[in-house]
Amino acid sequence: MLQRLRLGRLAGRVAASRSMPTPVVSSHGSQQGSASSYFHSSTSPSGRSAKSGEKRGAPRRARYVSAGALATSEAPEADSEPSTSAPSTIYSRPDLYELAFSYRDFKAEVKFLQEVYKQHNKHQLSSVLELGCGPARHLAGLARGGVAKVVGLDLSPDMLGHARKSLAKQGGKAAEVVELVQGDMSDFDLPHKSFDMVMCLLGTFSHLLDTDQAISAFRSAAAHLRPGGILLLEMAHPGDLFDGTLIIGESGKEVWELPQDNGDKVFVEWGAEFDNFDPVTQIIFRTVTINVLRGDDVVDSVEEVVPYRQYTVRELELLAKLAGLEQIALYGEMRMGVDLEHEDAYRMLALYRKP
Ligand SMILES: C[S@@+](CC[C@H](N)C(=O)[O-])C[C@H]1O[C@@H](n2cnc3c(N)ncnc32)[C@H](O)[C@@H]1O
Repeated sequence: MLQRLRLGRLAGRVAASRSMPTPVVSSHGSQQGSASSYFHSSTSPSGRSAKSGEKRGAPRRARYVSAGALATSEAPEADSEPSTSAPSTIYSRPDLYELAFSYRDFKAEVKFLQEVYKQHNKHQLSSVLELGCGPARHLAGLARGGVAKVVGLDLSPDMLGHARKSLAKQGGKAAEVVELVQGDMSDFDLPHKSFDMVMCLLGTFSHLLDTDQAISAFRSAAAHLRPGGILLLEMAHPGDLFDGTLIIGESGKEVWELPQDNGDKVFVEWGAEFDNFDPVTQIIFRTVTINVLRGDDVVDSVEEVVPYRQYTVRELELLAKLAGLEQIALYGEMRMGVDLEHEDAYRMLALYRKP
């Protein structure tokens, strides 16, 4: 039985993040900038919401959108007009995406990925495929850590171009070992079909909105695993869907800020007050804004309403079964020993094995 206080997940986030960004609007409204007010969903496409000054826990209702809306990329009407000068997708601005998430402790996450594989396989990880690899930070770390075959697949040519440049700049094993491929994780066919581990991090699997896409993604992943290999998904904590956090948050949005060496500030808003959730399709339309501030001026920005499908643990288990995989473990963050019920749990790491 999953019984944790939500506060536990917040505390876990604080413990997990070494170089924390400054929360500008906190879940507690009044505690601007304090460590205890910074919480999990800044690593996730699943923002817990908050609005400055609003009473904590004040009930809000999500507005529902019809299932038909998912067929379009149109955002449901927002509270305010999006900037017309901003590019249309966050992944077409990989530089801003990377800045927004630069506080993550990649070293610790890479260590976890190696440890968790070893825990369930009794030998070292030697080949890995990441679906939706983005800037490929984990892949670079795994290559440096001695993993011999490292492949990243991503749909976005902008992300891949950015990752290629970044790997070349890092040099060494990161540049030598990591291979990048453009493709759709919902249906792919790579020459290498015996990876030790296929992984999909940071809720990226939620970009697959349609059940057929999800079935096909699990099947594609399974087809690229060796017998005994593992599929690892990092998703939102399941408690966040069922306690309403993912759907309505506490009052609309989460905001954080990352000071840059040159004096600029990267200001991120994850979610907006009138983001919509469709209870039939389980899709949340999340407004994401990244602004770069120089003094009071916005010198660069990107804004997009991103649809994210929420998957329950049981749905993922079914998808795994359809692909011939078995669920073997559920962790509550990228740290060994933290299961879903642990007080520090704020994410879900789900592991499935190919028999
Ligand atoms: C949330 S980012 C995660 C990036 C990286 N894994 C990380 O941890 O920073 C999601 C990435 O998935 C990619 N993506 C979205 N849909 C995809 C699809 N259907 N197939 C492959 N990649 C996809 C995006 O281009 C983006 O780079």
